[in-house]
Amino acid sequence: MKIITVENYQEMSRKAAEYIVDKVISKPDLNLGLATGGTPKGVYKNIKEDHKKNHTSYEHVTTFNLDEYIGLKQEDPNSYYQYMYENLFKHINISLTQTNIPSGLNENIQAECTEYERKIVDAGGIDLQLLGIGSNGHIGFNEPGTPFTTKTHVVDLALSTKKANARYFDKINEVPSQAITMGIQTIMNSKEILLLVSGKAKQDAMVKLLSGVVTENFPASILNQHHNTTIIADEEAMELVKNMSYVR
Ligand code: GLP
Repeated sequence: MKIITVENYQEMSRKAAEYIVDKVISKPDLNLGLATGGTPKGVYKNIKEDHKKNHTSYEHVTTFNLDEYIGLKQEDPNSYYQYMYENLFKHINISLTQTNIPSGLNENIQAECTEYERKIVDAGGIDLQLLGIGSNGHIGFNEPGTPFTTKTHVVDLALSTKKANARYFDKINEVPSQAITMGIQTIMNSKEILLLVSGKAKQDAMVKLLSGVVTENFPASILNQHHNTTIIADEEAMELVKNMSYVR
């Protein structure tokens, strides 16, 4: 894994947006994997500003989001559909038919999982997957203990994840208990991964990730085995790993 340390959240967001925009320019039909959460919001803001200023085109880009809550309507302000629409899609020239987010409303959720995997494969796989990390090491919504071999599947959210995401809801009991997420294998099949890490809340996660120990108890640790992963982390997130000798 290649690590780029930057000063702060703004710098991380700017660098990551630049990274993505460069990929889109060099491959206009990029299959781009997207993430939600607080971390990538600044990236989307920078992509939006670049689009306005430099007219980078997303006309031929196809996007695949990592995950979605089960049971929230698309128009629910907390659905990842709304998040993506408000933070990115409505600001750039991408047709919504080229954006893919697993549906947490399909009555046949197993069929939805299979179909989502098929769509990714049919598109030729994900070229670049943007990732955040949960403080418990989750990627997408793959909680600790998830087998590394999983494809898109349904998960029960860990209490720590519900607590972490409760800030977006009125009450913690409004946070859905389940989600549909790309599996760890799905994520690992991406040709390239860009992981963003910012802030104090992720310091312990960085230590675990960079210890090099690969374990299903810390899902992100599998990224140590991905051949083309770049981490952009800010100084605060890197605070505890400063003195670790990371060799990879
Ligand atoms: C959420 C999302 C993940 C995200 C993570 C971290 O639950 N499902 O895709 O990476 O948790 O979120 P944040 O960036 O807000 O810390």
